[in-house]
Amino acid sequence: MANFNWARLTFTLLGFFILISAPATTATDHIVGANKGWNPGINYTLWANNHTFYVGDLISFRYQKAMYNVFEVNETGYLNCTTEGALGNWTSGKDFVTLDKAKRYYFICGNGQCFNGMKVSVLVHALPPPPSSSTAANQSSPRSTAPTVHHGGLVGLNAFLVAVVSIWYGSWWI
Ligand SMILES: *[C@@H]1O[C@H](CO)[C@@H](O)[C@H](O)[C@H]1NC(C)=O
Ligand SMILES: *[C@@H]1O[C@H](CO)[C@@H](O)[C@H](O)[C@H]1NC(C)=O
Ligand SMILES: *[C@@H]1O[C@H](CO)[C@@H](O)[C@H](O)[C@H]1NC(C)=O
Ligand SMILES: *[C@@H]1O[C@H](CO)[C@@H](O)[C@H](O)[C@H]1NC(C)=O
Ligand SMILES: *[C@@H]1O[C@H](CO)[C@@H](O)[C@H](O)[C@H]1NC(C)=O
Ligand SMILES: *[C@@H]1O[C@H](CO)[C@@H](O)[C@H](O)[C@H]1NC(C)=O
Repeated sequence: MANFNWARLTFTLLGFFILISAPATTATDHIVGANKGWNPGINYTLWANNHTFYVGDLISFRYQKAMYNVFEVNETGYLNCTTEGALGNWTSGKDFVTLDKAKRYYFICGNGQCFNGMKVSVLVHALPPPPSSSTAANQSSPRSTAPTVHHGGLVGLNAFLVAVVSIWYGSWWI
């Protein structure tokens, strides 16, 4: 106790805070079209099929703002390439949209390029429910185990943070 180290205590608390808070505040950013961005002539159905979207994730559109834009529309707007009654519109060229509901979202480009493929539809899933005592208590057989669903991105981030914090403390103590 003679060597009480405030700095170490602070870093320890900070490290735990990061580990505990990260899962609640982290969301995946799905960049539409990946490195091809938001442009004509791309099949965004193929892109969307390659991703899993959860409530709280972001979808982001990267494009030349002088040429294109983004409208959130309903199914009719998506199928017919019309922006009538649009639910939202974005024009910055680097637009982030939070997918905050478990539903199917529809986005199109509003300047006619929707007909050239600038349309994307994504199905957003509710986050897998955390294991809860009420669910466990509901199970008739103690041997039955609910399948564990991991939100890959969060697990990966946590592992990364653990690694960073370990390295950090490793060098601190040397
Ligand atoms: C995009 O790909 C999907 C899935 O293969 C296909 O059903 C659809 O017809 C394609 N769309 C266009 C415009 O080529
Ligand atoms: C699907 O994802 C894999 C792995 O990230 C990637 O290699 C592949 O190019 C993607 N395909 C499409 C159509 O985006
Ligand atoms: C969508 O377009 C089709 C054909 O272009 C048309 O028959 C239909 O009425 C349109 N639907 C709406 C809701 O505008
Ligand atoms: C989409 O919005 C338009 C305009 O508000 C409306 O006429 C149409 O019925 C809506 N379609 C659906 C599927 O909700
Ligand atoms: C775009 O959204 C703004 C509000 O965010 C709205 O005032 C404007 O009318 C929308 N533009 C179009 C073309 O729908
Ligand atoms: C618990 O079981 C009852 C019926 O056995 C069911 O209606 C209810 O949805 C279950 N609740 C959960 C959380 O599984």
